[in-house]
Amino acid sequence: MRSRSIVVSVLVVALAVGAWAVAGRPFFSSSAGDSLDRPAAELVDIPLGSIVPDAPFMRNVADQPGTVHVALVAAPERLQLIDGVTSDVYAYNGRVPGPTLELMEGDRVTVRFRNELPEPTTVHWHGLSLPIDSDGSPLDPVAPGEEKHYTFTVLPGSAGTYWYHPHPHGETTPQVTKGLYGAVVIRAPDDPLPASYTERLLVVSDNRILADGSFDLTEPTTLQGQIDHQNGREGNLLFVNGEIVPTLEIRPGEIQRWRILNASASRVYRLAIPGQTFLHVGNDGGLFEHPVEVEEIVLANAERVEVLVRGSGAPGSATVLETLPYDRYMPQTRPADWNQARQLLTLQYADEPPVAADPVPEVLRRIPYLDPAEASATREIVMAQNMINNRLFDMDRVDVSASLGATEIWLVHNVVGMDHPFHLHGFQFQILERNGVPEPFRSWKDTVNVPKHETVRFIVRFADHPGKWMFHCHILDHEDQGMMGIVEIT
Ligand code: C2O
Ligand code: CU
Ligand code: CU
Repeated sequence: MRSRSIVVSVLVVALAVGAWAVAGRPFFSSSAGDSLDRPAAELVDIPLGSIVPDAPFMRNVADQPGTVHVALVAAPERLQLIDGVTSDVYAYNGRVPGPTLELMEGDRVTVRFRNELPEPTTVHWHGLSLPIDSDGSPLDPVAPGEEKHYTFTVLPGSAGTYWYHPHPHGETTPQVTKGLYGAVVIRAPDDPLPASYTERLLVVSDNRILADGSFDLTEPTTLQGQIDHQNGREGNLLFVNGEIVPTLEIRPGEIQRWRILNASASRVYRLAIPGQTFLHVGNDGGLFEHPVEVEEIVLANAERVEVLVRGSGAPGSATVLETLPYDRYMPQTRPADWNQARQLLTLQYADEPPVAADPVPEVLRRIPYLDPAEASATREIVMAQNMINNRLFDMDRVDVSASLGATEIWLVHNVVGMDHPFHLHGFQFQILERNGVPEPFRSWKDTVNVPKHETVRFIVRFADHPGKWMFHCHILDHEDQGMMGIVEIT
């Protein structure tokens, strides 16, 4: 097996302890001058060239059409995530990433979940429209040894790529880090894209793993812990479907449909394939109205995209899917290698004669127009470091009260010098403006990156499902630290 060594990135920090006061709270504690409590660089062996694996699907044991019954177990496992060592992980059905839940619009779904972890957890269905008692929010923990059934009906028009992950109060970062995340793919009976396009699901994640295979989860008292606390924990190892720099084969001339999920705790990817473009066809909540040709796509943590990729290289040649530098950081805590492009996978053009692909339809579907004139409220949401509207998360407090059926406009301000991706549970929204610039076309979103000192304006309709829904920064460390609020719909 070919392998190479990479150097675990060393984070460079210019210490400016006094300068970190945000809303009266110093960001770094006064112990920030401690040196790193572990070696600055370690070598790990990275296998190269394995074929990108398909995540297996959860097995549907229902015997009636339109009904899906699956079993999901979260449990400790020992798995080999990197070459040469095993890691003590938390896994869904024994795998990292967990198996994909594949659904059709209209399906009636029951997920029989069992928590075999030594701690409470939940399963949150990120981006799905479902009843509040199946949302898996921090208000609904599943104790160790207990079972919970998540039940919902898949909304017509919701075909797209979603995901599931734990959401226990204050403990989401370690549980996702240890391996709990998986994809949900919802299909439409009238999918406009040709079935002849080979479909790939790419679950992109990152992690820091020490030479003994253990996860590098830091204590808040260490310098690295404080950097993780501020930036959100980033890993130097980038995985696609659990593999490091796997190879994906494409035939010259063919068109592939890729669903890409960023399951990372905080890393933002700027995806590009040198020398060729993507046809961007969908976002979090499914397909656009029309395909859009782009050279790169910024994919914040928890976001998803659908893209079409054409096998435009010469037979037998190869290129890469890479992530270009993206500066989401405050300058003081930028990782030393933040300005380096990183390879995610090798795109290998098959050594075969070119094939002719079915043409890409110009119209994909119609997306309903939400009329701002019908909005009954405009909410101002201010994200500062750790806090939303100057408050830390409180499970017993309702931050926003909204009426069932109401259309609302939310203005999400980021008032600090690093990006915060904003996520709303249970409802897809449409972005109206980013920093005053009208969004060029409609799409359904449940997560939107709000760059430093910018504002995003979106419109949402609370059409159904009364209850207490979370909204939060999706940098998992920030969420755990309390950068979350509750909108109650009654
Ligand atoms: Cu992806 Cu509150 O969640
Ligand atoms: Cu969510
Ligand atoms: Cu944040």
